[in-house]
Amino acid sequence: MVVVQCVEQGVVQRNSQVNQDSLAMVILSPRIAAMARPGQFVMVACSKTGQSPLLRRPLSIHAVDGDCLTLLYRVVGQGTELLANMNVNNSLSILGPLGMGFAIAERKHHCLVGGGIGIAPLLFLARAIRRAQPDSQITLLAGARSDLELLVIEKFQPGVEVLIATDDGSEGHHGFVTELLAEITGDVEVYTCGPTPMMKGVAAIARKHSWGCQVSLESHMACGMGACLGCAVERSGVHEGADKYVHVCKDGPVFKAGEIWA
Ligand SMILES: Cc1cc2nc3c(=O)[nH]c(=O)nc-3n(C[C@H](O)[C@H](O)[C@H](O)COP(=O)(O)OP(=O)(O)OC[C@H]3O[C@@H](n4cnc5c(N)ncnc54)[C@H](O)[C@@H]3O)c2cc1C
Ligand code: FES
Repeated sequence: MVVVQCVEQGVVQRNSQVNQDSLAMVILSPRIAAMARPGQFVMVACSKTGQSPLLRRPLSIHAVDGDCLTLLYRVVGQGTELLANMNVNNSLSILGPLGMGFAIAERKHHCLVGGGIGIAPLLFLARAIRRAQPDSQITLLAGARSDLELLVIEKFQPGVEVLIATDDGSEGHHGFVTELLAEITGDVEVYTCGPTPMMKGVAAIARKHSWGCQVSLESHMACGMGACLGCAVERSGVHEGADKYVHVCKDGPVFKAGEIWA
């Protein structure tokens, strides 16, 4: 497969708070928007050239609307703090679209399982599934610590069944989102992004039912393009030397669950 990406100077159209620590940034970026596929990500320069932080930060493509990309991000450190302070008409350098995204499976039922900010790539995916398979059922299972940390659920509706789980019971099911997945039956493909323990739990349920399961991994990234080897993750099975590892930036971030966890 030919992988095409570019560096584009994006222009901020909107940068608004969606909850206490997360924002949605809409960026005019026509070239990247035209090439982007669900599950892919971009590397964003959060500062001007030569200023700290020097390295770009990886963020999933949350949505594509015409010539614009939306990024949904949680402020956790210097780079995301700088992004949060950007205003309309500021410009920023974006590299992308990067990586291998989700493959939309031929299924009657698609279950998208997001934990916290892991919901970010699932909106773009839900919209693409709806376009590709208008008659299929799509369920979003969204997990968060509390109702205050639930993000952008309303953007999935109408057209997507939404099931919510919160750790403290403040909204939806009182417990883990994996407990909701365990109730699902039938011919299902599972797509998941979120904390690693949650995704491992999702993969275990999918394995039990022999469902297809695609996981979107996170790792620290320096280049985002397969050059620095900083994002290597050990894969399942017995492999020798360099074959023991996959690179989240170029082989992923989306993998079949069995490729990572046996
Ligand atoms: C493919 C991919 C897609 C991502 N998509 C999103 C997204 O859509 N929305 C979003 O909010 N975040 C996303 N992330 C995580 C995001 O890249 C980091 O939160 C961001 O780089 C932090 O930058 P910072 O300068 O603000 O924080 P830093 O000062 O660099 O770090 C602050 C804290 O965050 C941790 N951290 C930093 N980078 C990562 C990382 N890559 N993975 C896990 N922990 C990290 C650090 O260990 C530290 O504890 C994604 C990461 C990857 C690899
Ligand atoms: S981030 Fe450099 S090889 Fe993956």
